[in-house]
Amino acid sequence: MSINFKELANKYQTPYYVYDFDHITKQYNELKSSFKARKSLVAYAVKANSNLSVIKHLANLGAGADCVSIGEVKRALKVGIPAYRIIFSGVGKIDSEIKEALTLGILMINVESDAELNRVEQIAKELDIVARISVRVNPNIDPKTHPYISTGLHENKFGVDIDTAKRMYIQCKNSDYLEPRGIHLHIGSQLTQLEPIKESVKIVSDLVKNLAAIKIELSFFDVGGGLGIIYDDEKLIDTNEYAQSILECLFGLDITVVCEPGRFLVGNSGVFVTKVLYEKVNGNKRFVIVDGAMNDLLRPSLYNAYHKVEVLNDNQEFNDCNLVGPVCESGDFFAKDVQLPKTQHDDLVAIYSAGAYCFTMASNYNTRGKVAEIAYEDGKDRLIRKRETFEDIIALEEEYIK
Ligand code: LLP
Repeated sequence: MSINFKELANKYQTPYYVYDFDHITKQYNELKSSFKARKSLVAYAVKANSNLSVIKHLANLGAGADCVSIGEVKRALKVGIPAYRIIFSGVGKIDSEIKEALTLGILMINVESDAELNRVEQIAKELDIVARISVRVNPNIDPKTHPYISTGLHENKFGVDIDTAKRMYIQCKNSDYLEPRGIHLHIGSQLTQLEPIKESVKIVSDLVKNLAAIKIELSFFDVGGGLGIIYDDEKLIDTNEYAQSILECLFGLDITVVCEPGRFLVGNSGVFVTKVLYEKVNGNKRFVIVDGAMNDLLRPSLYNAYHKVEVLNDNQEFNDCNLVGPVCESGDFFAKDVQLPKTQHDDLVAIYSAGAYCFTMASNYNTRGKVAEIAYEDGKDRLIRKRETFEDIIALEEEYIK
């Protein structure tokens, strides 16, 4: 990408996020075409980056949406993703969310426990609607990723085991208000190994075959998201091999493949740009303090995640330092023990691979407004979310001051 970060900083101030929409297009097309041998639906995992313009861009490409709250469902609908391409997942859906999802007529509700299935059945009955159901199966496979973003083991809270899933499908079949429609798995995020995905898909596809034998025929096989991206020097899963290994397991089944990538579509499109405030030395330790902070980009603090950082100046004198923000927490850092050049006030620092799970995990901690978001497409930039002001932050409190 040939984005002029400095120009954008002059125009929009710092910190900001910029997303290369052409990269998102490329990623979408690559994944979609790898499944071309089959009917497929790429349902964008909205949680990765839920800016309306980002979702709209993917909607225009033909994407569906994987949502984990009714708010995300409404975001997807708002920018034109049709209800029949929207899936609603999550371990703890609220009654009102289930009700609204049923009323909106989305593709399916992805159910994660038998207690939840009962709830959905009850609500569907009250509304006199038939709920289209998929069940999230937990295949008990180690995805070999960071424990915080691993979901496919029984020790994780997600999904149900094979036997429970089977019982749930039978309940659907016997109910007037439930229609078994799909099956779902998602073993984790930032996956860089194909083997655990293959194994999991095999386990779940065997269940689909068993269900077909008892006349429960499903139309959608949802392999979840999880494809990794480049943060450092990862070797990524080849999308054609990925699709191929899934399609092999589904041989002989008349079923549409669904995948729910989030990070893969948007992660490497994004850069967080922040500005140097000061340098200081405490004892032997050098700190470079920037105007962005953990409330803007939490992944290093929360997961000790690596993001490549680069100071945008020509200084060649590199030294060890910690790159930190102004928030009053020792955990407020972007990089520790990193070699960075000597900086000056106002030098820009780019933090890469910031398109997924960065802005969406931002907060107003320390009464810091959320930063501006910018789209870059066809060589042009445009604002897609304005910087929050102090007034925006206090808007929901002000009238209650006594
Ligand atoms: N489908 C389901 C059911 C999911 O739980 C997730 C992510 C996805 C799809 C999309 O996964 P992706 O393709 O983006 O890997 N905040 C963490 C990531 C949490 C992922 C949660 N689930 C991070 O910053 O790494």
